Amino acid sequence: MNTTFSKPEITPARRAFYDRLAPKNVAPLWEVLARLVPAQPAPEMVPVLFEYEQIRPLLMEAGRLLTAQEAERRVLVLENPALRGQSRLTQSLYAGLQLILPGETAPPHRHAASALRFVLEGTGAFTAVEGEKTMMHPGDFIITPSWTFHDHGNPGEEPTVWLDGLDVPIVNLFDTSFLERRPEEEGQVERVAPGDALARYGSNLLPVDFVRERPSSPVFTYPYDRTRESLDVLFRNGPLHACHGVKMRYVNPATGGYPMPTLGAFIQYLPRAFAGACYRGTDATVYAIVEGQGRTSIGDLTFEWGPRDIFAVPSWAPVRHIAESDAVLFSMSDRPAQIALGLWREEAPMS
Ligand SMILES: [Fe+2]
Repeated sequence: MNTTFSKPEITPARRAFYDRLAPKNVAPLWEVLARLVPAQPAPEMVPVLFEYEQIRPLLMEAGRLLTAQEAERRVLVLENPALRGQSRLTQSLYAGLQLILPGETAPPHRHAASALRFVLEGTGAFTAVEGEKTMMHPGDFIITPSWTFHDHGNPGEEPTVWLDGLDVPIVNLFDTSFLERRPEEEGQVERVAPGDALARYGSNLLPVDFVRERPSSPVFTYPYDRTRESLDVLFRNGPLHACHGVKMRYVNPATGGYPMPTLGAFIQYLPRAFAGACYRGTDATVYAIVEGQGRTSIGDLTFEWGPRDIFAVPSWAPVRHIAESDAVLFSMSDRPAQIALGLWREEAPMS
């Protein structure tokens, strides 16, 4: 079965005709059809690995060069080498490493773009979302949904670094970006006691008169100690998925859906010597290693990884994880958006 569109031959008469079309702002579809409608995903992005030990010194250097306040957010954007200058790691996702040093604050603002944070290093910093502070610990997953005010601060003693993931390319595809900044002092106003959202919405309970006000999760923080405990219990109880080991998705407890409409996040445990079966999905995925050593093959390429390393996998690329020691992998993608649009596909296990 022929599943690709073929391109008609270009004759001098056709060439001359095409040349006359351009000034009228029209073009022949048959010349671009194969590129517009490929038979399967044809990503521009390439797989890429960021070794934390290579990037960390640069981040610390940025910390000496300018303050978090000057920068608004002191972030080194993780760029895809095939999409240089576009501030995106995958076609649809922005990713960056953010540093906040002891004593620093990053002022409050809100934007249409949704953001997630995954803490890589440091204890003692906080993220505040709509006036509720959440202390950040390595492995914590924190969300700042679309149009929620958020700021960060580090009253502690250690530099804190986290992975930022935003749906900026999606928001800009639709041309729907808005931004609002707030005076610094207002960011410091605690309107809600720390831990409120987790107790109210994230403890297998919801207020009796709960009404959903936005499509994102009412819980802002998913602490690693709880997550890790679940992974342990589920590994002991089995079974292991042939491709994913123990893999869970972060959830909006009010709906059972994803935490935010455009961003999905996942956590998985691979026991030592786990050799996963091959898997592919249409959601290009960014992985961050929480614990352990191992390697991941993406098509013909193999990345060796350790704690805090980050790598990106293109849409529909065959992926296989191998763990050399017990390992925990965080990942994020635009899966909820693809599901909502009826586009998401996966294939597993593959031979
Ligand atoms: Fe922000």
